[in-house]
Amino acid sequence: MANLQSNRQPDTQSRLILRQPDDWHVHLRDGEMLDAVVNFTARQCARAIVMPNLPTPVTDVQTAIAYRDRINAAVDKTHDFTPLMICYLTDATDPKEVERGFHEGVFTACKLYPANATTNSAHGVTDITKIYAVLEVMQNIGMPLLVHGEVTDADIDIFDREAVFIERVLKDVIVDFPGLKIVFEHITTKDGVDFVREAEANIGATITPHHLEFNRNAMLVGGMQPHYYCLPVAKRELHRLALRKAATSGSPKFFFGTDSAPHVVGSKESACGCAGLFNATHAIESYAKVFEEEGALDKLEGFASEHGPHFYGLPLNEKRIILDRTPNLVPATVPVMDTHIVPFHADTKLAWKFVGFE
Ligand code: DOR
Ligand code: ZN
Repeated sequence: MANLQSNRQPDTQSRLILRQPDDWHVHLRDGEMLDAVVNFTARQCARAIVMPNLPTPVTDVQTAIAYRDRINAAVDKTHDFTPLMICYLTDATDPKEVERGFHEGVFTACKLYPANATTNSAHGVTDITKIYAVLEVMQNIGMPLLVHGEVTDADIDIFDREAVFIERVLKDVIVDFPGLKIVFEHITTKDGVDFVREAEANIGATITPHHLEFNRNAMLVGGMQPHYYCLPVAKRELHRLALRKAATSGSPKFFFGTDSAPHVVGSKESACGCAGLFNATHAIESYAKVFEEEGALDKLEGFASEHGPHFYGLPLNEKRIILDRTPNLVPATVPVMDTHIVPFHADTKLAWKFVGFE
């Protein structure tokens, strides 16, 4: 339960104190972009699952250690932040490398990108059965599989990619590997919610702030709105409502994972715009907005700070963060290199503000 500072009703409550959250799905990128974005995550979150879809993906232990070192070097020394590294699966992934990385404490989990599903996924898996030997090992050692759950078949409508992935891929995987821990990442549909809810306890899901906040109209009404384009794409309203219900339900299967995915403005506002929203500047505040709107602020701490560690079998964070009810203006831009990123909620005010630690 959230440690509510007063006995007042949620609508007048002025301060929230929560166990420090973790981000169970974030893109920190590399080089100057890494330097520009990592501290937004590190100031709020104690740990983060760092997606491995760099232009040259993180597919082996040595590459992961080198990337982890670059992340740690980019984090301000005032933050106490642990990046959790992920192995990007390809058709050629060696189960022994995965096992070694897990046992050496380098890899926390593996990520399945179906080939060509999203940014830097060209080296992804072309057929799930190609990684069955890896999944076998992961099941045996208790290593989670993180799934970008979309099929890429040309005959499938992009709005149906997630639902069809459940039918064509995920249902078989849970039968063939009943003990495998699976995180269905950034779910966007009622189908995803229902699947996860009905599955065994070893199946969980992350839900992003943006899929909780808008539906596909935001991307398509009044002209193409590239800053609302991400993958999986936002779906129709009934799906958003199902996500909000799941996130705020208190179910331990659903947890914080921003999928914060920065792209410079020129890559978003383009004839072929990149997928991804940069929401790390105000991640916990975005979630707080949704939970408050749903009358479920008392469920925020579970979602943000408890369900994820429990799922991964990791300790809870000890520190507590403070959120105050005070107008919190999100910057219009975040500088990077000689250009900028447009963050989620750019130039608007949020009601809650992360102000530090208890
Ligand atoms: O919108 C997205 N952006 N979805 C993904 O799956 C990848 C991410 C990125 O890396 O840009
Ligand atoms: Zn992602």
